[in-house]
Amino acid sequence: MQNLDQVVQDAAAAFAATDDPDALEQIKARFLGKGGQITELLKGMAKLSHEERKSAGAQINRAKEAIETALNARREAIRRLALEARLAEESLDVTLPGRGESRGGLHPVTRTLERLETLFRTIGFEVADGPEIEADFQNFTALNTPEDHPARSMHDTFYLQDENGQVAQDILLRTHTSPIQVRYMQAHVAKYAQLETMPEIRVIAPGRVYRVDSDATHSPMFHQIEGLWIGENVSFADLKGVIADFLRRFFESDDLQLRFRPSFFPFTEPSAEIDMAFMSGAHKGRWLEIGGCGMVHPNVLRHVGIDPEKYLGFAFGMGGDRLTMLRYGVNDLRLFFDGDLRFLRQFV
Ligand code: PHE
Repeated sequence: MQNLDQVVQDAAAAFAATDDPDALEQIKARFLGKGGQITELLKGMAKLSHEERKSAGAQINRAKEAIETALNARREAIRRLALEARLAEESLDVTLPGRGESRGGLHPVTRTLERLETLFRTIGFEVADGPEIEADFQNFTALNTPEDHPARSMHDTFYLQDENGQVAQDILLRTHTSPIQVRYMQAHVAKYAQLETMPEIRVIAPGRVYRVDSDATHSPMFHQIEGLWIGENVSFADLKGVIADFLRRFFESDDLQLRFRPSFFPFTEPSAEIDMAFMSGAHKGRWLEIGGCGMVHPNVLRHVGIDPEKYLGFAFGMGGDRLTMLRYGVNDLRLFFDGDLRFLRQFV
């Protein structure tokens, strides 16, 4: 059995030639597997005489053991190599300087909305919230918006699809924060149903709104702040006072002028556009539109179960992004939504 030593040597050399555990097991099969060389030799013993078989068997078994020993040694060596490689790779240089941590900051539009909340709370307004995925009723119908109003077209409004991929005409991304008025009034009416006279409603509601629109001054998602004051004796003069007072405090300046320009909204009557001009600074003398407002339409009050003969009030909606741009002197709305930290860090 001259070639047995050769087989053992070949096996040891083949084992040494790899450092991959899977490859090693493949090589093992070439010697010890079903059709492996040692196995074949053992099978060949059938042809030998009884005496020959005894000594051949002993030799082959010795060779087999030698190969198994070599294999186990190589397995162990490969395992150690892998461990060492991993340790080297994951080693940690404790002498390196730290990377430091930087603090995050609030987005400039979030700052504006929070500032608005603070300012309106000081004059007794509550802060309300509502869903961004809204029902047609709250977004349009209850707000006295006729069936054929252009805002209801797919052109201007993002409608949602039902599970069959059909556009669901009655679910949409709210196009303004005004549906929060509706929800708030509905809840208020339910809450005070027992009372002869319900307490006043004084609420603001900041939030994201969506329209099919995109350019330097329009983003498909933007922010509004809704305001609503309903009571037994609330007038357009109160509306003007609240808005004027708010803007002076928001911009920390008495140096601004306000203009209520007649306009139209289905849910207010009369309605006005709120324009503002700074008397000094970069925007000096330029009229800027910052929102819409008006006396809440009697039909809106009826839709939520409030008697328009007894109660009345005003509503307004201002652009949260527009107010932020004016406050910080930013002239491209898109900068707010690009997520570029170089821009955003300036406000922290
Ligand atoms: N919802 C109106 C808009 O998005 C703004 C508005 C709110 C006007 C409340 C009047 C009263 O343009």
